Amino acid sequence: WPDGTVLSGSDLVIGGVSATRLAARFGTPCQVLDEATVRSRARTFAATLPDGEVVFAGKSLPCPEVYRWMAAEGLSLDVSSAGELALARAAGVPGERIVLHGNVKTSEDLKAALEHGVSRIVVDSFDEIAQLGALARHGQQVMIRVTPGVDAVTHAAIATGVEDQKFGFSLASGAALEAILRVVEQPSLRLVGLHCHIGSQVRHVASYEETVRRMVGLIASCGVRIEQLDLGGGFCAPYLPGESSFDLFGFAQRVRGTLNYECALHRVPVPRLLIEPGRSIVANAGVTLYRVCAVKRGVTRTFVAVDGGMSDNPRPALYGAKYAVRLIGRGGALRPVTVVGRHCEAGDVLADGLLPADVHAGDLLAMPVTGAYHHALASNYNQVCRPPVVAVRDGFARPIMRRETEEDLLRRYV
Ligand code: LLP
Repeated sequence: WPDGTVLSGSDLVIGGVSATRLAARFGTPCQVLDEATVRSRARTFAATLPDGEVVFAGKSLPCPEVYRWMAAEGLSLDVSSAGELALARAAGVPGERIVLHGNVKTSEDLKAALEHGVSRIVVDSFDEIAQLGALARHGQQVMIRVTPGVDAVTHAAIATGVEDQKFGFSLASGAALEAILRVVEQPSLRLVGLHCHIGSQVRHVASYEETVRRMVGLIASCGVRIEQLDLGGGFCAPYLPGESSFDLFGFAQRVRGTLNYECALHRVPVPRLLIEPGRSIVANAGVTLYRVCAVKRGVTRTFVAVDGGMSDNPRPALYGAKYAVRLIGRGGALRPVTVVGRHCEAGDVLADGLLPADVHAGDLLAMPVTGAYHHALASNYNQVCRPPVVAVRDGFARPIMRRETEEDLLRRYV
């Protein structure tokens, strides 16, 4: 739950606002975002890396207002398309605080980045180095995405540091070294750093320590001055009761220690450290409210069907992600249920959870830890309109993204 969430009577109060009243005012499904939690996590990251740079992974919660909060808390922003860059521009984030990512950047993405003066572009293929070299004006700052070959022990779909997946230049094969030389050869590009991102929902600090060892080995062998080392994001967030948070303090201590040691050992200057957290800043700040529409007793289990589903949360279907759920308005003896969505697929399951035995149509459910990659991954499957994102703070609520309407849907059909 977001910081400071309270159960008052049987209601849930997030950011000082009652969930029952939020549902009545904004309808359901509704994605509630606690501003204080987001800002405080952003501040914690900034304080943990005072001499480094914390870059918010904008893909985890793309929304201009959220980008503004991040900028106000001193964070930079990573974008992975011209679309995310457009949101960043709308938010007023200056180009020098933006990093552009992506294994594919179309020429529109690259041109938009150059036009806005995006300070660092992270190149991910030899084709891109050549294309960017031709498009860029003198001195465009570039980082190179390296695949360090580190297994971050996470779901295969979000493990990006191992060999044999689409991201980065392989360290082991020598492609990373070759990429460094190619960038250096391009007169319009200036190599400022190396980047890697080993995956998402990473639990172990040791995975990052191993990454640092390998990256410093590359820095030492390339013979080029590397000013910045970007370790990417991936710091895990707890989704279920009893799961622990990422040890951020331990990360900062151990990663910095390893970096200093390895640089001394290889006699290279210590680069400036960058990290790119997304999920660990916003996940726990989000709560989705759903209305129960039907309860069906199956042969072996009870299905509680709600007014949202895989269109606002495809994560269980995509990654087997697990969520907890809570009924608002009543207590009572709990029994196991399967919360399902409204979409035309048997795989549209949101969570296995515990709800009061008398759960019925009209009840309000709250699902926590829905701040990261929910709004971002939402779709219009079955032409269901996407929910609003409602920010709460100090007892006030305001939509920072309005609910989609059928007019919005129809506007694009020709
Ligand atoms: N940096 C880069 C280059 C990335 O690709 C990502 C995430 C991040 C930073 C931030 O990672 P985070 O701190 O949020 O774990 N849709 C998936 C997650 C995909 C992550 C994509 N890249 C999910 O819902 O679990």
